[in-house]
Amino acid sequence: MYTLQTYEKKGSLQLIKTIKKRNFATQFMSQTEQEFKNIIAHCKEYGFVFPSSEIYDGLSAVYDYGQTGVALKNNLKSYWWKSMVQLHENVVGIDSSIFMHPKTWKASGHIDGFNDPMIDNKDSKKRYRADVLIEEFIGKIEAKINKEVTKAAKRFGDTFDKEQFLATNPRALDNQKKIADINARMKAGLDGDLALLKTLIEDLEIACPVSGSKNWTDVKQFNLMYSTQMNATSGEGDDALYLRPETAQGIFVNYLNVQKTGRMKIPFGIAQIGKAFRNEIVARQFIIRMKEFEQMELQFFVRPGTEMEVFNYWKKNRLDWHKNLGINPEKYRYHDHVKLAHYANAAVDIEYKYPFGFKEVEGIHSRTDFDLKAHQEHSGKKLQYFDPELNESYVPYVVETSIGVDRLFLLVMSEALQQETLESGDSRVVLRLNPAIAPYKLAVLPLLKKDGLPEKAREIYNDLKFDFECYYEEKDAIGKRYRRQDAIGTPYCITIDHDSLEDNQVTIRDRDTMEQKRVPISALSTLLHEKTDMSGLLKRLG
Ligand code: GAP
Repeated sequence: MYTLQTYEKKGSLQLIKTIKKRNFATQFMSQTEQEFKNIIAHCKEYGFVFPSSEIYDGLSAVYDYGQTGVALKNNLKSYWWKSMVQLHENVVGIDSSIFMHPKTWKASGHIDGFNDPMIDNKDSKKRYRADVLIEEFIGKIEAKINKEVTKAAKRFGDTFDKEQFLATNPRALDNQKKIADINARMKAGLDGDLALLKTLIEDLEIACPVSGSKNWTDVKQFNLMYSTQMNATSGEGDDALYLRPETAQGIFVNYLNVQKTGRMKIPFGIAQIGKAFRNEIVARQFIIRMKEFEQMELQFFVRPGTEMEVFNYWKKNRLDWHKNLGINPEKYRYHDHVKLAHYANAAVDIEYKYPFGFKEVEGIHSRTDFDLKAHQEHSGKKLQYFDPELNESYVPYVVETSIGVDRLFLLVMSEALQQETLESGDSRVVLRLNPAIAPYKLAVLPLLKKDGLPEKAREIYNDLKFDFECYYEEKDAIGKRYRRQDAIGTPYCITIDHDSLEDNQVTIRDRDTMEQKRVPISALSTLLHEKTDMSGLLKRLG
């Protein structure tokens, strides 16, 4: 019953006590918390996401995708892959291994710089990312500003000008200044002096969410990579082997292979989908921050000096890609980085408003020639491009787009899951997924389990299954079966009744409108292709 960490493995006795207290508090849970809790519960109940190794009480921040979840996830990956690789003649894909030569991570800067600033609360013994604690504090100030904006918008009606309000209202100005000051102090701390982060946390009087105490340790850096070993005999002196913390490096080390064998001309891109691993100390918010997760990354290699133009192209392209899924555009925003990663000269996040607030779903970075140059130095191999137009060789610059499959999955679920009250007064839970990404495109349902209806239904199922992901079900009343399909997002239900045996027509029910109409069985395939094919979604991208 505990709210947001329902699936997370519980720890100390202290924490269990806190959970009990919080369970009591759930009756006063905010609407957004309730919404998030519903999404997590729905994912579990309908086979989308399970806690990993649940029979052993789960593993913290590790999750498994179930029968409907894997289908939705595969469709999301397919939408990304086709829009990147199939729709761009100068983008190709690869699938590199998770294990990479240990020197890769020295070159990429992950051994020295892939750290999070962590702080412990001495009373709860809980560990937090110092910057996240501060960002959450900033989020509260932002919420205050938004509240003022909403109030003023109500008061002034159509004449309300949000920009003007933010530029003139004394309270809003004061809060914006507070945010700017905190951001400046956080940047100074993140840029090197960790003691400044602790002072900032103390000055802001940030308390531990578990114990409520402000009794903090110093801030320390923790490396996020998981180390492992290749051979059973591996001993001291061997370079540590790491599970890759991003898929990008697999692309960089293959740059020359792909450029040469694919005869690629700059600008060109290499795309990859794959698992990444990070020892996230503060693993929270369901599949938002996992220890094992999946990334979809594009490295786009460009002539030095053109990177900002290309960066702006991908910045727009990627947001358009999200919106094309039918997601509410108002739930997106760009977030410019306060502190640039060691490899970047420009960086922006695409953030989505999850039920618990705005969070990064995708990052777009201009990575300069940092990675290729570093691999060139550490490997001793030239990673250059001969540009025939300039008649010179150079190390290409790189613009990267990187999106987490799991965060995208949660975004899509948050957007699609709706509880509706029908005209009849009944309610239904419906997952309004874009048909092209829905786990099943149709369900084939004989009205009754007798009179030759199942046989006719099977005939239809066996015909359509080669082109569409179909669900077949004959158990329970038809209304109940419709509800089950609504809950897993199946856009169309095909019902076979006694008339179907005579006139070779079936009833097709639309998930969103619940409208039902009779169509000839022979017309089903064309109709379903038109309504559910991924190509329809891709064509809208242009
Ligand atoms: N190659 C660049 C890179 O890895 P990042 O911002 O660290 O950049 C890119 O990660 C994306 O991967 C994020 O926008 C997010 O969607 C996803 N991601 C990162 N860490 C994650 C985690 N622990 N769990 C789930 N998704 C994560």
